Amino acid sequence: MKKKKKKTWIPFLVILLLIGGGIIFWILNQKQPTTNNDDTKQPNDSSSPYSKEEQEKLGQLDNAQEKLDYFNMDYLDRYLAYQEQNPTLAIEDVITRVNIGLDQPYYTNTKESPYLNQIYLLSNKYLFMPSDYVPDGLEAISSDCARSGMQLVSEARQQFEALCKQAKEDGYTIRAMSSYRSYDYQDNLYQRYVAQDGVEEADTYSARPGFSEHQTGLVVDVDNNKIDYTDFEQTDEFEWMQDHAHEFGFILRYPKGKEDITGYTYEAWHYRYVGEDIATYIHEHDITFDEYYVRFIENKK
Ligand code: DAL
Ligand code: ZN
Repeated sequence: MKKKKKKTWIPFLVILLLIGGGIIFWILNQKQPTTNNDDTKQPNDSSSPYSKEEQEKLGQLDNAQEKLDYFNMDYLDRYLAYQEQNPTLAIEDVITRVNIGLDQPYYTNTKESPYLNQIYLLSNKYLFMPSDYVPDGLEAISSDCARSGMQLVSEARQQFEALCKQAKEDGYTIRAMSSYRSYDYQDNLYQRYVAQDGVEEADTYSARPGFSEHQTGLVVDVDNNKIDYTDFEQTDEFEWMQDHAHEFGFILRYPKGKEDITGYTYEAWHYRYVGEDIATYIHEHDITFDEYYVRFIENKK
């Protein structure tokens, strides 16, 4: 029988490991020597990217920058001023409205709309399209669903015809009586309204050339082919649109009660194509496209 060799080295190994472990533990627990001898610094300052003054201002806004990814530090003072003027407004609405530009008079700080030729394109009293902008892919709307000569961008045209067909099957007539308008067409229209009612009044219901959503090729004004489009709200077709327009990607763009956000008087006949997902969100959350845009599209798409 083989004689078992005694493992006399094992206790030494255990002792060595214990000593080594102890040394490592001691080193890890030593404080890092600090190179910063500035005793005047406040403990939390180094963890914030903002100055003391900015931190105070952000505090007045409930530190909304931590919750809202559309918070824009460049607008910090504008947020505070708008909050002071509108003390009952929720912080989220203060941020949203300033981002839209509503703290400044209409048609000031105007910018060219980004997202030309995309369904995200927003046109309002702060965002315009170039005078020579004609959207790609304009197509004639079927005469079953429109007055003659009406055009929309391809996707919006298809979806509007699908909406019109479904309405017909349900017993309603939805007809496009105005859709794409060129810059020049809108210019003539607006000048006519100004001559009739003056600039101040005309601005409440008509867009200036370059600022009309009709130039996007994503908009229809509808009637029921029986009564004037301005009475569309009184029709059963309007009720049908309230329930179904979003299913085809259209929203009521200038709703009642949102005039201070859209900048226009209520238009029961003006529908904007934004695609089914955005239309459904807007429909379910009862917000305007201007609000949706600054919260979910601007600087993100
Ligand atoms: N009536 C709408 C606002 C337009 O002129 O585009
Ligand atoms: Zn319209």
